[in-house]
Amino acid sequence: MTAAGEVRIVGLSELSATPVRERLLDRHDRFWDTDTRALHHPVWFHQFGGFGAVAIDADGEDVGYVLGAVTADRLAYLHLIAVRDDHRRSSLGRRLSHWFDELAAGTGARVVQAVTRPDNEAALAFHRSLGADSHLSREHAGAGADRIVLTRWLSPS
Ligand SMILES: CC(C)(COP(=O)(O)OP(=O)(O)OC[C@H]1O[C@@H](n2cnc3c(N)ncnc32)[C@H](O)[C@@H]1OP(=O)(O)O)[C@@H](O)C(=O)NCCC(=O)NCCS
Repeated sequence: MTAAGEVRIVGLSELSATPVRERLLDRHDRFWDTDTRALHHPVWFHQFGGFGAVAIDADGEDVGYVLGAVTADRLAYLHLIAVRDDHRRSSLGRRLSHWFDELAAGTGARVVQAVTRPDNEAALAFHRSLGADSHLSREHAGAGADRIVLTRWLSPS
């Protein structure tokens, strides 16, 4: 496995949105255990791409990514974060999250929020390890689709 230190994080604004999105969707199952394709709407790469980043290893492979945006009321919404299966537990998720935090704090955001499925234990442990509090949001994503909302404070940049 490549050490996290050999992986660089590149903002999506430096990359071409369409091919990055296609590459990540082509390799979707290396990043996700459930089908999240519908959550990769082009708007997250084109219009909100300035808040996103890809982690690229020494071979030029995409090994992680983060997508999000800061709302008008200064909430930093972390839409998706994923690390390729062979790079997990090497602090890459933490690095991607910090990259997003710094950018969000720089735009004035004070709170970061993410949403995950109640059975996504890795995601829950990951966000809690970053200091997030969690609450159950019933039928958040529609009938029978409860979600956990994870919220944490950002330090001012
Ligand atoms: C959630 C995810 C992004 C975490 O990425 P990662 O690079 O493995 O996480 P890190 O190595 O930065 O872990 C940071 C801390 O989170 C916690 N953590 C991460 N994964 C964990 C797991 N599977 N079980 C328990 N704790 C975990 C640990 O406290 C860890 O610190 P430690 O390794 O020093 O103990 C990754 O598991 C993933 O891509 N999952 C599939 C996609 C997904 O579900 N994304 C979340 C959507 S909200």
